[in-house]
Amino acid sequence: MRELEINVKGGSYKIIIQNDSLKEINRYVKEVYNNKNIYILTDDVVAPIYLDTIIKSLECDFAVDYVIIPHGEKSKSITTYIDVCNKLIDKNIKRNNLLIALGGGVIGDLCGFVAATLYRGIPYLSIPTSLLSQMDSSIGGKTGIDFYNRKNIIGAFKQPIRVIIDPLTLKTLDEREFNNGMGELIKHGAIGNKKLLDLLKTKPEIDENIIFESLSVKKRVVELDEFDLNERMTLNFGHTFGHAIELKYNYKHGEAVAIGMLMAIDMGIDLNITNKECYDTIKNILKIYNLPTKEYNYKDYLKDVLFDKKNIAGTINFIFLTELGSSKIVKLSEKELKEKYYECFN
Ligand code: GLY
Repeated sequence: MRELEINVKGGSYKIIIQNDSLKEINRYVKEVYNNKNIYILTDDVVAPIYLDTIIKSLECDFAVDYVIIPHGEKSKSITTYIDVCNKLIDKNIKRNNLLIALGGGVIGDLCGFVAATLYRGIPYLSIPTSLLSQMDSSIGGKTGIDFYNRKNIIGAFKQPIRVIIDPLTLKTLDEREFNNGMGELIKHGAIGNKKLLDLLKTKPEIDENIIFESLSVKKRVVELDEFDLNERMTLNFGHTFGHAIELKYNYKHGEAVAIGMLMAIDMGIDLNITNKECYDTIKNILKIYNLPTKEYNYKDYLKDVLFDKKNIAGTINFIFLTELGSSKIVKLSEKELKEKYYECFN
């Protein structure tokens, strides 16, 4: 078993990383929650795999009820949010009851947002079951729903009271879904953990130890910058260009981040910020995990990047590697970008 503790203003909580932890989930819940009622939010794909196991364990100590929603990004909507709140209130949920998010990123983000807003705040605990959500969205308290055709634009910061990761859940993921999470895991190594990159070169099993090494990077930046104003932005490495190609070429998020990292490295090398060895090392690790490494010229996407949501007040926060395991934020105004890359905007 490995453990990490996140300490931020919104609360201090443990991330438990333990094989088979789902089977004795009551033990880990009891340590942080001592009321009677628990409500689980999950989806129709995850429920048949894990819900019975979880309920069986929790029922030893708690009264358990649940809400199941359709899987997929469409459920991160205001309609599903209202539906979930209605169902929870019908089921008599109280402000001091516990909500549990059981599933991937959609469930985590939606459940966290319900927990942040219903009765002005209910405690919630996260059990992420996809590698992508274990690596990213279940930690750090970003919650939200999609709106106005844009992702995550209604939301709140709400830290869970605990995150419980069972690495054995990764065995039920199909290969593309697993690789999707690997994009974010490799990103953590690239921006903040050279030791993790060295471990990944040997294609280890993604076990308690690798998950710990990866999340230790997220812990560090979230603690430095809970509200995403500075250091936390380094987690966007690969996302600026990744977003530009994700929908256009129908990549999964982690796949787009993989290619986006290579584009950002390329740009960083051109700007003399990034050490040249980064490109081949990251590309080789991406290949080991069957992530796409197709080469897109970053210059062809600078225009799209200008319209991305990170274009705040005309300034873009680019995240570059300086060397392997180390990153920095470089602010470039629209004017500077257009001067440096004159040919791309004319
Ligand atoms: N997903 C990036 C963050 O948590 O800030």
